[in-house]
Amino acid sequence: MENYLHINDLGNLQDVVKEAIALKQAPYQFKELGKQKTICLLFFNNSLRTRLSTQKAAMILGLDVMVMNFGSEGWQLEFEDGTVMDQGKSEHIKEAAQVVSQFADIVAIRAFASLVDKEKDEAEIVLKGFEKYASIPVVNMESSVGHPLQALADAITLEEHKTVEKPKVVLSWAPHPKALPHAVANSFVEMMKLQDAEFVITHPKGYELNPEITKNCKIVHDQEKALENANFVYVKNWSNYKDYGKVLHQDKNWIMTQEKLRKAKFMHCLPVRRNVVVEDAVLDSNQSLVIQQASNRTFSAQVVLKRILEKN
Ligand code: CP
Repeated sequence: MENYLHINDLGNLQDVVKEAIALKQAPYQFKELGKQKTICLLFFNNSLRTRLSTQKAAMILGLDVMVMNFGSEGWQLEFEDGTVMDQGKSEHIKEAAQVVSQFADIVAIRAFASLVDKEKDEAEIVLKGFEKYASIPVVNMESSVGHPLQALADAITLEEHKTVEKPKVVLSWAPHPKALPHAVANSFVEMMKLQDAEFVITHPKGYELNPEITKNCKIVHDQEKALENANFVYVKNWSNYKDYGKVLHQDKNWIMTQEKLRKAKFMHCLPVRRNVVVEDAVLDSNQSLVIQQASNRTFSAQVVLKRILEKN
């Protein structure tokens, strides 16, 4: 694998999940792979899990790690070609990406959606800018449209906790006071399309995701009906896609409760707002898999970095 930008870059998902679960049993077996190599983690946005799990995975593989909060510490980047840079932006992506490539062997980028300009967000200008101008492999630590490291951790978690061959998995929209990006939901949907599972998406009318991503997916607007006989319920808020970035309403009836969850396992990528997205009783029950999902972020990053190191 050259880069990891999208869940489809992995090849066969089931093989990667198996490899990640095997890595969990003996995580340090490839500690020589990254020796005398460096990964640079560039954060244009905040993080807890992605930062620590990617750093941990890199260290387990013997990589040296450099972390930079580019959003607050780096120069403001220009991405347009031919711009007269006489305003606030000090450095062009062309130089920045090439410079980072002198100091590291892999670069990983987190750059969220603005939720203001749909066209720019869908162009993933930061991630794609690094892909275009860097001479080293690029890893997506959540871009404006996808979070494939999270989706891979979710696939590992599903595999570890499924009790039937073909589980029913429901992605359920939840209320949230702030406008949130679509990246986690998009990558979860794309990952579920690669699974042998009954997959249902439920959200209030008006919260449709990008129809190209949800093409051929079953969408049920009645949450109670969608949740019937679910084995796993993945809860996530996202803002409006059509009226881009808008919060249409915060329908509190969509909060996940123990009563609605019944016997299903609860999943969320975290961070999560308690008693807004999901009630305490669910998060504090043994049906919640959120800590296991966060733990699997290390192994999702480890299998991705391992494959990149093996190729380069
Ligand atoms: N789930 C996730 O990506 O968490 P962070 O935003 O804390 O990295």
